[in-house]
Amino acid sequence: MKLLFLNGVNLGLTGMREKGVYGSQTLEEINAEIRSHFKDDECEFFQSDIEGEICKKIHEAVCDGIILNAGAYTHYSIAIRDAISSVTTPVVEVHMSNVHSREDFRHVSVLSSVCKGVILGFGKNSYILAGESFKL
Ligand code: DQA
Repeated sequence: MKLLFLNGVNLGLTGMREKGVYGSQTLEEINAEIRSHFKDDECEFFQSDIEGEICKKIHEAVCDGIILNAGAYTHYSIAIRDAISSVTTPVVEVHMSNVHSREDFRHVSVLSSVCKGVILGFGKNSYILAGESFKL
């Protein structure tokens, strides 16, 4: 199975920012753990702070599933929502934190209704649970 793990804005700072929320492991360290979990699968990892680059990656993805943590873009990016709607590749929305136990503005996702599903609140394991969901 071919999986694309796509991270959006500020997620490149994971391990350095808000460690109480997102933990102290870097995104590279988390990705290495994901890669070893999915050792029999082909995993691609991409992170960008730029909305258009995330859209382009979604347009061009040739894979069985996209695991997308769009970061703050989740809450307002109609461009990313439209990119998801424009392709047939299934996308699972992911968040490390439980956004519903945080500020009100994080309770809204403009992406969820065009995604296959949503996994949130399990820290780095949210990515692994989302990847596993493509195998069910
Ligand atoms: C996040 C939650 C978002 O609200 C926030 O803007 C992030 C990370 C998460 O993984 O919990 O950057 O997507």
